[in-house]
Amino acid sequence: MSPPPESSGVSAAAAFSRLMQAHRSIRAFRDEPLDAGFVDGLLEEALHGSSSSGNLNMVSVIKTSERERKSQLYRLHGEQPMILQAPLVLTFCADTERTRRWLELRGARLGFADFLSWHVSSFDAMILAQTAALAFESHGLGVCYMGTTLFAMREIAELLGCPTHCLPVTSLVVGHPAEAPAQRDRLPRAAWIHDETYRRAQPGDIDRDFAERERRGRERYLSSGPEMAGLWEQHGIESLAHYYTSPIKYDPDLFAGFSADLVALLQARGFLQATPQPTPAAAGIAP
Ligand SMILES: Cc1cc2nc3c(=O)[nH]c(=O)nc-3n(C[C@H](O)[C@H](O)[C@H](O)COP(=O)(O)O)c2cc1C
Repeated sequence: MSPPPESSGVSAAAAFSRLMQAHRSIRAFRDEPLDAGFVDGLLEEALHGSSSSGNLNMVSVIKTSERERKSQLYRLHGEQPMILQAPLVLTFCADTERTRRWLELRGARLGFADFLSWHVSSFDAMILAQTAALAFESHGLGVCYMGTTLFAMREIAELLGCPTHCLPVTSLVVGHPAEAPAQRDRLPRAAWIHDETYRRAQPGDIDRDFAERERRGRERYLSSGPEMAGLWEQHGIESLAHYYTSPIKYDPDLFAGFSADLVALLQARGFLQATPQPTPAAAGIAP
């Protein structure tokens, strides 16, 4: 492998390390548009800079900057204000529709209308989103993922005109930062890097690895305003762990409902068969 290129005396590795260390999600933006040519060029580079399953590039990115469409997205994204503030919302879609169209037009056997292809194309979309996120950040722009995409996939797909085998998997708001938030911690490396085989966390490991985030997380949420403190009290939340699966964060009952909706949507969009298909072994097909 040839050594990485040097640019203005700073190695690519050092610049990339600095970029990653500087990451923080940005949720407030200046009222300043982004040049469409710049955005398209950067997305194109991001696709080149991302590995892609079978190099099929089964992804689509839909750019939204029109005010009216952004306000519809704002509603679908749980009214997160950054959707309205950011000049650009990018919706990253798992998309096997175009590939299927290509196969069809060339008289090839149709494929990629199954659950595995959903995984493959959605992983590709997430990989592309993260490459694009880093690329935007390298230009001093701010980004924030919109996890709410998953809760309103059907509606966002309809709003943006996605065809059958194409569904949004994540979104990024992009713009010029109007805030410089403190950096958020991550779990220490001992918690999640395993040597050779998986080492299950013991109670002492959990105490050690979560102590700092329990303290800081609780402090951050409770100091975010009287409304949040009131909600913690109302729901009897005593710790960060309790908060995460409480009705005001990632409620397991809500997740179960959303999961059932997702299964139904994947069926409706051709990524999942309503009746289970025979496994390769059952069908006598060698893996
Ligand atoms: C898939 C994904 C979805 C996310 N969705 C949201 C969201 O809907 N709203 C939000 O404010 N932040 C969202 N975030 C940002 C995370 O809250 C953020 O990355 C995390 O708290 C760590 O903070 P940092 O990115 O500033 O380091 C999301 C991040 C990811 C990776």
